[in-house]
Amino acid sequence: MSDAATETGQQTELPLLFQPITIKSVTARNRIVVPPLCQYSAEDGIPNDWHLVHYGSYARGGVGTIFIEATGVEPRGRISHGCLGIWDDEHGAALKPLVSIMQRHGAVPGIQIAHAGRKASSQRPWNGLGALNEDDIARGDVPWEVVGPSAIPADEGWLVPRQLEEDEIGEIVKAFGQAARRSHEAGFEALEIHGAHGYLIQSFLSPLSNKRNDGYGGDLAGRMRLALEVTREVRAHWPKDKPLFFRVSSVDGYDDGWKIEDSIALAKELKALGVDCVDCSSGGNAASATLTLVPRGLGFQVPFASAIKAEAGIMTMAVGLILDGEQAEAILQAGDADLIAVGREIMYNPFWAVQAAQDLGIDPEFEMWPAQYGWWLDKRERTFKRMGHKR
Ligand SMILES: Cc1cc2nc3c(=O)[nH]c(=O)nc-3n(C[C@H](O)[C@H](O)[C@H](O)COP(=O)(O)O)c2cc1C
Repeated sequence: MSDAATETGQQTELPLLFQPITIKSVTARNRIVVPPLCQYSAEDGIPNDWHLVHYGSYARGGVGTIFIEATGVEPRGRISHGCLGIWDDEHGAALKPLVSIMQRHGAVPGIQIAHAGRKASSQRPWNGLGALNEDDIARGDVPWEVVGPSAIPADEGWLVPRQLEEDEIGEIVKAFGQAARRSHEAGFEALEIHGAHGYLIQSFLSPLSNKRNDGYGGDLAGRMRLALEVTREVRAHWPKDKPLFFRVSSVDGYDDGWKIEDSIALAKELKALGVDCVDCSSGGNAASATLTLVPRGLGFQVPFASAIKAEAGIMTMAVGLILDGEQAEAILQAGDADLIAVGREIMYNPFWAVQAAQDLGIDPEFEMWPAQYGWWLDKRERTFKRMGHKR
């Protein structure tokens, strides 16, 4: 149990959110995680100064762990032309500056490795997030062939994927393993397999998109085969003492789709293969491909994290509309999840973590803030107090 020293020298128990957490050999300074957030800003899979500032600012803002965005294990597995890649050693090396800026500012550097499957070759969000069109081609974003479990497009107007042959699936499994090796060589300390949102792995899991009748389809075991083969291959190339996460779409949100019971069954298998934590998202696999049918509300996916944690006996990460420190702390106190991922709120305020510490009353003097800012912000606060001004 970690304690915080108060001004009077008494020890107070830290809120769970700010207690360090150790998974395998890696310790994060708190339980706040930046989930993968695609930036659609890479060139040929290579990051640039945007990524450096983007990831550096979250580390500087005090979060415990950062997963860099969905990073393609092969070129056709990128969502868009702007997605990061890790399909060769040059890409692995190009990610090292991101690793070091996150580490220098105290965060555990993590990476999400991914294959977009039938949702690859899409527009950047600000150009529409649908299939690439003439305007995109004029900008140089030329479509490529997409692949999937069955020849069913993700949505109306999206590319019809080519159904993968069994031997091709084996090649993709190997690509995930090589991506894990490169992630380790680049210095990442945590790795997440993207098994959610209708991308390749989840499109195999879901009966909505997987209509195969060979060994990679049919019943639950057949549909889970790709996810489990990828996990086994990744674990073989990712050091045993480094944490492995797996992101699920806990439910598709359709009556005839993937259900929470399926996620629990999958989580048990993943645990047996050495996955440490299930990151519990939802939706994204069917019309409309970018939306989910799961009703939105504060912490709307927390019940999934809670069910998977309780039923599969594995650590979980809660994500989705978690807005502030009090809400995050309540989720941890209830035992619904072990980690809290904060996406858009942290894009809105990269200092979300240190602000949450203030809101939870553990950092009244800005000591958790970078020294370059904290000293001034403490003075600013005192000025406010003298003025009788309340923030
Ligand atoms: C800009 C943006 C990019 C995202 N990119 C990814 C991604 O690369 N991989 C992924 O699994 N989820 C991705 N997501 C989903 C987030 O990781 C997260 O699950 C979602 O935003 C819900 O959390 P929030 O309500 O805290 O934002 C993205 C979300 C946003 C807003």
